[in-house]
Amino acid sequence: GVEAEQMPRAPVVTVMGHVDHGKTSLLDYIRRSKVASGEAGGITQHIGAYNVKTERGMVTFLDTPGHEAFTAMRARGAQATDIVILVVASDDGVMPQTKEAIHHAKAAGVPLVVAITKIDKPDGNPERVKQELVAEEVVPEEYGGDVPFVGVSAKTGEGIDSLLENVLLQAEILELTAAVEAPAKGIVVEARLDKGRGPVATILVQSGTLNRGDAVLAGASFGRVRAMLNENGKPVTSAGPSMPVEIQGLTEVPAAGDEVIAMADERKAREIALFRQGKFRDVKLARQQA
Ligand code: GTP
Ligand code: NA
Ligand code: MG
Repeated sequence: GVEAEQMPRAPVVTVMGHVDHGKTSLLDYIRRSKVASGEAGGITQHIGAYNVKTERGMVTFLDTPGHEAFTAMRARGAQATDIVILVVASDDGVMPQTKEAIHHAKAAGVPLVVAITKIDKPDGNPERVKQELVAEEVVPEEYGGDVPFVGVSAKTGEGIDSLLENVLLQAEILELTAAVEAPAKGIVVEARLDKGRGPVATILVQSGTLNRGDAVLAGASFGRVRAMLNENGKPVTSAGPSMPVEIQGLTEVPAAGDEVIAMADERKAREIALFRQGKFRDVKLARQQA
């Protein structure tokens, strides 16, 4: 077939680091300062995936928890992302989940931008943090390395514009593109069973366009997109590359990290999902009925 035209897309930036080092506070500050008032809220508060409009274009951020129990989530975050902001608290330094985040980013081949957080704290020591990161082979540009380091405070806002500048610069170097006029492909960021709405999944569209009404396969789940909400909880009819959306209409709750693809043939999507669920008898029956 004819390849769909590649268009520029927003970078997907995942914020990682040790527990309580200031990931969510940093993103909250960015949202408060960059998102027009009234736009905040909605699903992003629950899923930690949203777009921010900057002077130089859109950025999609994914927040991740730093607790040690969330290793798999950090690994998936690294897979789904273009750039990792590695958050390290100036008063705590490199800790186990800092090292783990470095490992995931390197394994995924994703560039790092280091944010040394809480620089407003008098007991912080950004210079010591730098030394500790060098020991992990994360070397700042000033020491001849290739990793931008920025000191920030989510309390005073210091350094946050500079951090965004560095993230956008990295993104420009990557020249990120994706097909728009194509069936959607993406990844499940988060999914749950909602009492009233049934299985609900937050999906990051990575290429193509997801439309309301599309048949989709999401891991071992399938269905049709019955309703779709954007990051602000507003109904939308379509979502293009780098857009996080919450969809309704799947038959099961998929797993975070599952691949999502829109398929022309809902029956085919159902067959593959049943197969992945190990329901081989149901696959056979469906084929006989077809
Ligand atoms: P997890 O998601 O649990 O891993 O934590 P997190 O990395 O998202 O950290 P969070 O933003 O929840 O911040 C942890 C604590 O540090 C909170 O009490 C924040 O108020 C505080 N904090 C975060 N950023 C700053 C900062 O820049 N300065 C100061 N003084 N405190 C901060
Ligand atoms: Na926290
Ligand atoms: Mg957090």
